[in-house]
Amino acid sequence: IGSQIGVGKESDVYLACDADGGEVCVKLHRLGRTSFRQLKNKATILVPDVTSTGSTLSAEREFAFLQALHSEGLPVPKPHGHNRHAVVMEFVTNSSPLNSVSSDHPDAESLYLQCRAGLERLAELGLVHGDYNEFNLLVQEPSDEGPDGKPLVRIIDLPQCISRRHPQAVEQYNRDAGCLVTFFLRKFEQLRHGWLQEREPTRLSDISGMP
Ligand SMILES: Nc1ncnc2c1ncn2[C@@H]1O[C@H](COP(=O)(O)OP(=O)(O)OP(=O)(O)O)[C@@H](O)[C@H]1O
Ligand SMILES: [Mg+2]
Repeated sequence: IGSQIGVGKESDVYLACDADGGEVCVKLHRLGRTSFRQLKNKATILVPDVTSTGSTLSAEREFAFLQALHSEGLPVPKPHGHNRHAVVMEFVTNSSPLNSVSSDHPDAESLYLQCRAGLERLAELGLVHGDYNEFNLLVQEPSDEGPDGKPLVRIIDLPQCISRRHPQAVEQYNRDAGCLVTFFLRKFEQLRHGWLQEREPTRLSDISGMP
């Protein structure tokens, strides 16, 4: 295990080394830990399973979504494995969260279209991300050695994904879509003047795929 690369609300994320010396990302879920501590302080009887359920389930869900989406060609990190509250996945090299890219980034249009495509592709496969914001979308710049190309948008942070059949799916999809448009309008001046408004995400009910 190497340095910590992220501290989220619900996990600690580390850069790590696999058996062959390659870089991987280890995400340690810690959903429920705070509440367990609080419970331990207050309760006189301990519930045996309470430590593992939240974070283990969260890791299992994230691994399963990564596997399913990666096999469908979505730009999520390649999953390597999971155990209890840990998920090991591809480390997205040369990337930073969309939030921190420069406001005069030359590929803003492409970044927006990739983000919109990701949201819609998820829906075609029957899923709504539920936290599709500028911190959970990584922009991977082309590497020096690689062929010249556009930056790639990579989608991360999947444990809270829900099915399109979930009663709150439409509300969450609209929130995800709204966050995306608001962020791009606020950040990139070049996308104002109607360009982005004419390319708003498709409504969930108009996306084909699983009902
Ligand atoms: N596969 C990855 N490759 C590179 N960096 C990553 C990867 N996964 C996560 N990160 C980094 O770690 C940060 C936190 O990851 P993630 O969003 O999955 O965790 P989280 O705890 O669910 O976050 P939050 O609850 O704040 O949304 C990301 O913003 C990103 O900078
Ligand atoms: Mg996150």
